[in-house]
Amino acid sequence: MESGPSRVVLITGAAGALGAAVARRLASEGPADLVLCDLSGERLEPVASTLEGPGTRVLTRVVDVSDAAAVDAAVAAAVERFGRLDVMINNAGVIATNGRIHNQTAQEWDRQFRITFLGAVHGTTAAVRVMRTQEDGGSIINTASVAGLTAWPYTAPYGAAKAAVIQLTKVAAVEYAKERIRVNCVCPGTFESAMTADIPDEALPGLTARHPLGLGAPEDVVGAFAYLAGADSRWTTGSAMVVDGGYAAP
Ligand SMILES: NC(=O)c1ccc[n+]([C@@H]2O[C@H](COP(=O)([O-])OP(=O)(O)OC[C@H]3O[C@@H](n4cnc5c(N)ncnc54)[C@H](O)[C@@H]3O)[C@@H](O)[C@H]2O)c1
Repeated sequence: MESGPSRVVLITGAAGALGAAVARRLASEGPADLVLCDLSGERLEPVASTLEGPGTRVLTRVVDVSDAAAVDAAVAAAVERFGRLDVMINNAGVIATNGRIHNQTAQEWDRQFRITFLGAVHGTTAAVRVMRTQEDGGSIINTASVAGLTAWPYTAPYGAAKAAVIQLTKVAAVEYAKERIRVNCVCPGTFESAMTADIPDEALPGLTARHPLGLGAPEDVVGAFAYLAGADSRWTTGSAMVVDGGYAAP
């Protein structure tokens, strides 16, 4: 475990499988002040209570990432409580209803772009406003998906929203490099979470076969977040880091 000043990290979707695993990993790396945000306060509490302890302070916030004002308020609360914001992880997302494009509804396109895409826009906007004022900038990490890089049939709104997250990441990286803010995204393949729990049994063999290393767990993905949050990635910005058990390789 590293010592030194605490790193202030805000994570959205922190009650979910990946968000909670990232929080655990960053807490294990050294002193951390974690601001854990999710739609569900009830599911955040058990995550927070297992993390709080020597070297780890935790603030929880119920935040809907589709609401720009709520995301701004969460970032303001982080700064008020911990004095700065070092790492912003825009991780909240929702899966699209399965269906080919002609069966997708306007509501589903809207839902995906409001949460999965605009959630990352709101988080990036709120974070850069703070990080630009910090001498050593900060690191923004968006959770994208291989579905934003490759054609993933039957979930077009989700894939399109994730592709938009990747593009947002790259443009933000270029716009804010001079202000020492690095912006990267992680593109996971399929791993176990509430989001993937409903995959029908008959679809699992085919999906597994498309991941040469098999399906993943959240812990298989967190190393990319640890790298992008830390000093080893000081010369990495605008990257879409693929962590997918080989899904996107063929
Ligand atoms: N599970 C996978 O196979 C997979 C693959 C690639 C990318 N991802 C991405 O990983 C991220 C985390 O997903 P997960 O797999 O841990 O799923 P999860 O369902 O366990 O976690 C998602 C969390 O986001 C929260 N959330 C949903 N809408 C929100 C909103 N409007 N505001 C705030 N919080 C909201 C949920 O309450 C939940 O706790 C998502 O962005 C997802 O798209 C997941």
